[in-house]
Amino acid sequence: MAAKAKTAYRCTECGADHAKWQGKCDACGAWNTLVEEIIAAASPTKNARRAHGSKGLAHGGAVLDTPRLRDVAGTESHRLRTGLAEFDFVLGGGVVPGSMVLVGGEPGIGKSTILLQVAARLESAGHPALYVSGEESPLQVKLRADRLGGGSLDVSLLGETNLETILATAHERRPSVMMVDSIQTVFTGDLEGAPGNVGQVRECAARLMRFAKESGTAVFVVGHVTKGGGIAGPKTLEHIVDTVLYFEGENALDHRLLRATKNRFGSVDEIGVFRMTSEGLLPVDNPSALFLGDRADAATSGSAVTALIEGSRPVLLEIQGLAAKAGYGTPQRVCTGFDARRLALLLAVLDKRAGLSFAQLDVFLNVVGGVQAGEPAADLAVAAALASSVYDRALPRDAIFVGELGLGGEVRPVSQVDRRLAEADKMGMRTAYVSDRGLPRRAPKSLKVVGVADLAALVKELVR
Ligand SMILES: Nc1ncnc2c1ncn2[C@@H]1O[C@H](COP(=O)(O)OP(=O)(O)O)[C@@H](O)[C@H]1O
Ligand SMILES: [Mg+2]
Repeated sequence: MAAKAKTAYRCTECGADHAKWQGKCDACGAWNTLVEEIIAAASPTKNARRAHGSKGLAHGGAVLDTPRLRDVAGTESHRLRTGLAEFDFVLGGGVVPGSMVLVGGEPGIGKSTILLQVAARLESAGHPALYVSGEESPLQVKLRADRLGGGSLDVSLLGETNLETILATAHERRPSVMMVDSIQTVFTGDLEGAPGNVGQVRECAARLMRFAKESGTAVFVVGHVTKGGGIAGPKTLEHIVDTVLYFEGENALDHRLLRATKNRFGSVDEIGVFRMTSEGLLPVDNPSALFLGDRADAATSGSAVTALIEGSRPVLLEIQGLAAKAGYGTPQRVCTGFDARRLALLLAVLDKRAGLSFAQLDVFLNVVGGVQAGEPAADLAVAAALASSVYDRALPRDAIFVGELGLGGEVRPVSQVDRRLAEADKMGMRTAYVSDRGLPRRAPKSLKVVGVADLAALVKELVR
């Protein structure tokens, strides 16, 4: 190996360098902000900084051509399709050669499984795949491959954590796609820090990115999510890579959501839905059917269905509300998959505009399936579910509720109502409650559309 690169501990707040790690920055006094970085000339991160960097450094560099954009050679590179429909969909149509994708998620959610499946499918399609495992022994990976089948035994394996060795091997083998599982186990000998610390993760990710761009190999890196929900090695890692995919889902449930939170080659906030089986993760063709699949058969109060746009697709979701007599003290408000402050606002609107007081009631709200209902279009369903629970009267099972609630209790129109209603119709819904000011231009024939002016009118019609 080459002589050890010179490193320093740089403060991420003020940029001051320190020879040794310490808890507090001498220059600005901030705590826990020092990150080990290479300061010798030949480091890629250093070069990158120089290229974008300060005026003084630019002098003495080489003078390069600056062609007009129209003269830049090449076309959009051909995407590699894995054939795992939901995976390709979330990426924006397949794997982009030379791209770097970060796959984040909690332990046990299925990151290694999906990447081995992707590697297997690409290998079978004639695109050589290299799976680098620093987390699990080669035998463990093989046992998973045995279980998954489908060509995963043909994938090449490298059990290594030293970045220099990984890159040297990859340069030699030239795979079309390389999986690095995980970025927290990989280290470069150029830094003193242990694998997994911020400096290591950043430097290794930057070098893997450079390798991806130079070689055209698509690089997937697994990143563990810390308790706070971020990928260890902070946001910097997300800034480096082209695409960030998050794997979510309740561990107890067998379905998993794959979400793109950043994508240089496609739209963000698309979700892909999978089911975890013994043969690995299987794409779910019809997410609405999955999310509505476990609804109670009998007419239960407190359940309302809404249609939200997740990424570019309409998806039906069940919202469950339960209002129960509070014990002693302040009534509880507990919600899963919905913003707590939004719930507080809707409770106030229900009280003031529809005469439903929750002051003596505990309120529980749950979006079924571990999905986050972040769109205001879910308001009407949330309010309907809670009103239904208070009066213990079930809402029609085949109705959907789509609308944003204003502070005056008015039901406001939402975007893309036609697409939401089309999805509802497809899923066998028969009535749609929407804003009377945002009626769809063309509703499906078998769906009755009811325009609602305000919350009080809806409560009066359905539950009171
Ligand atoms: N024989 C099996 N049948 C079905 N599911 C399994 C089996 N073995 C493991 N799993 C699932 O695979 C998950 C582990 O997935 P893995 O890809 O290793 O997660 P990660 O890499 O994100 O930590 C387990 O939580 C379990 O749900
Ligand atoms: Mg794993």
